[in-house]
Amino acid sequence: MSAFDSHTPPDAGQQWNAHDYAIDAGFVPVLGGAVARLLDPQHGERILDLGCGDGVLSVDLALSGAHITGVDASPELVGGARARGIEAHVMDAHALTFTRQFDAVFSNAALHWMRGADQVIAGVARALKPGGRFVAEMGGHGNVVAITSALQAALCSNGHAVPAFPWHFPTADDYAERLRAHGFQVRYIEMQARPTALPTGMRGWLRTFASPFLTGLDATQRQRVIDDAVALLEPTQCDARGQWTADYVRLRFDARLRTV
Ligand code: BEZ
Repeated sequence: MSAFDSHTPPDAGQQWNAHDYAIDAGFVPVLGGAVARLLDPQHGERILDLGCGDGVLSVDLALSGAHITGVDASPELVGGARARGIEAHVMDAHALTFTRQFDAVFSNAALHWMRGADQVIAGVARALKPGGRFVAEMGGHGNVVAITSALQAALCSNGHAVPAFPWHFPTADDYAERLRAHGFQVRYIEMQARPTALPTGMRGWLRTFASPFLTGLDATQRQRVIDDAVALLEPTQCDARGQWTADYVRLRFDARLRTV
């Protein structure tokens, strides 16, 4: 049993702001193109977009003629997906309510928020028709280690406690083993470093994603921690032209639910 077998509530400590998300994290659905191609959605298929966020990538998938259902733990982001015309539901991915309904389950940049990986994979297996595919990309082992180390160091140097790590960034072996244990055949799984340019810089990334590290701090304390983290990150994550990069590592896989 690993620490991830029991999970904290979804998105613990994370507040989503649909406007900031669209601006600071607009690159997330754009970079989801590779995993969307791996999914290869077909006309008429029923596909579950797990952690659909504001539905930008769900809309792209729907262009194939597949029927997309989105689920996300954030009511704000589900509202955004619905505004784009996607059928979307607020749902905890650890307690999916679907049974043998989908030809495929797809997920981009969301599974690492779901710390109870086994509960999530079990729900995905239940949601799929026999032979259905689970195609996803998530943060892998070592993802954003520079950013999280800087945040942890900034919290410590300002005399604050370091909260429990909010994300699950597994190795390929770890996730493949879990998939197999839940009845999947793993056709492909790969870990890849993908340094990612940040359109609104490190401050934009931290504005949208760092809140799990900052719960319980007042506005002044938060600002100090952010300033110190940005100063620590500048030598390695910002180039001479002022372009900031996040040290993303992606874990991408294509798994099929066994028929027997
Ligand atoms: C990611 O997509 O890798 C990620 C995004 C926000 C927080 C942590 C990781």
